[in-house]
Amino acid sequence: MNVKEQESQLFFHTYKRLPLEVERGEGCYLYTTDGQRYLDMFSGLAVNALGYAHPAVIRAVDEQVRKYTHLSNFFIQQPQLQLAERLLRLSGFDKIFFSNSGTEAIEGSIKLIRKWGKPLGKSQIFGMSNGFSGRTMGALSLMDKEKYRAGYEPFLPGFGTIEFNDVQDLTAKVNQGTAAVFLECIQGEGGIVGVTREFAQALNALREQYGFLIVADEIQSGIGRTGKLFGYQHFGLTPDIITVAKPIGGGLPVGAIIGSKKVADVWTYGVHGTTFGGNPVACAAGVATIDTVMQEPFLANVRTQSEYFSGQIRAMMARYPFIKEVRTFGYMIGVELTVESAPIVDAVLQKGVLVNSTANTVIRILPPLIAGREEFDQLLTALTTVFDAQ
Ligand SMILES: Cc1ncc(COP(=O)(O)O)c(C=O)c1O
Repeated sequence: MNVKEQESQLFFHTYKRLPLEVERGEGCYLYTTDGQRYLDMFSGLAVNALGYAHPAVIRAVDEQVRKYTHLSNFFIQQPQLQLAERLLRLSGFDKIFFSNSGTEAIEGSIKLIRKWGKPLGKSQIFGMSNGFSGRTMGALSLMDKEKYRAGYEPFLPGFGTIEFNDVQDLTAKVNQGTAAVFLECIQGEGGIVGVTREFAQALNALREQYGFLIVADEIQSGIGRTGKLFGYQHFGLTPDIITVAKPIGGGLPVGAIIGSKKVADVWTYGVHGTTFGGNPVACAAGVATIDTVMQEPFLANVRTQSEYFSGQIRAMMARYPFIKEVRTFGYMIGVELTVESAPIVDAVLQKGVLVNSTANTVIRILPPLIAGREEFDQLLTALTTVFDAQ
């Protein structure tokens, strides 16, 4: 039995796996058991900010596993303190709660919001059309995409979605009973689509009017991916809560809810918790990752390379009329086509480069933040070859 057959026999068929068997990773590259090398411009779904086997992450993990790999949350743990201190200092927020994943950070914030809103008579929670919040029932309740929701009904009561970037719909839906509005300022799964300044401003103003909370989902866009620490910083939006995950554990699973003063006192002993959340090894790897990312010129390089790639791919638009639009926010890049993107992504993989297809027609590119000119040039060469054959 080959590994593909084995996988099919063993697992619920929830994942469409790539036809690669990875042996190891190094920097921006993956090496497969058949001796091939692949440039990973998708970085484990925006997790591997420092690529594979980064020395700072290896050192941090190695030092921590020798001390302890797990302590219950009855204990104060240095790696958690260090990661919390950095995330709060850099964000300017006041309190943090560590989870294991993005969807758990979303789930926890829903609970936090409901507890905050209860004495104020606010319970309604909104997500955005075309958004992605995760796979738990709370996260799905914030979403509208049938692809993820079909068959899981009924969802949580008191939830709804607002048309992304539609100020009229936003204004019509929020009111005194609204507890929170969730949004990805740059929708990732939705095709790398940014919030408009107009919508962000309207959201800020309506929050002033009705006193609800704004939650910025920074799970994909956070920790430098967009060239700034958080995606919302590009749009003049001032959230009350941020959810983060993906890169904050340096490749190990950890997520977090980060809250402002407004919600700081809502949670008291025992009202929320987790066994594994804030795992010390993951937090240690996260500290190494954030320290590396926040050391200039790291993010300046992300901005420079992103501009370079953006310029190059935009210049290709005249030659390849099926490129409809290029949307670039640092290393969150969407190339929208007039044709389906999945076959293009498969063909690019044949050229030794991993990118992703989302929203049917978008090539989603989420390179490790260590990717430089050489890697972008390799991607451009692969795209050119594939586009030429279209
Ligand atoms: C914006 C956003 N929110 C939430 C999630 C869910 O995170 P996780 O898969 O860690 O549960 C994701 C995952 O892709 C995401 O991109």
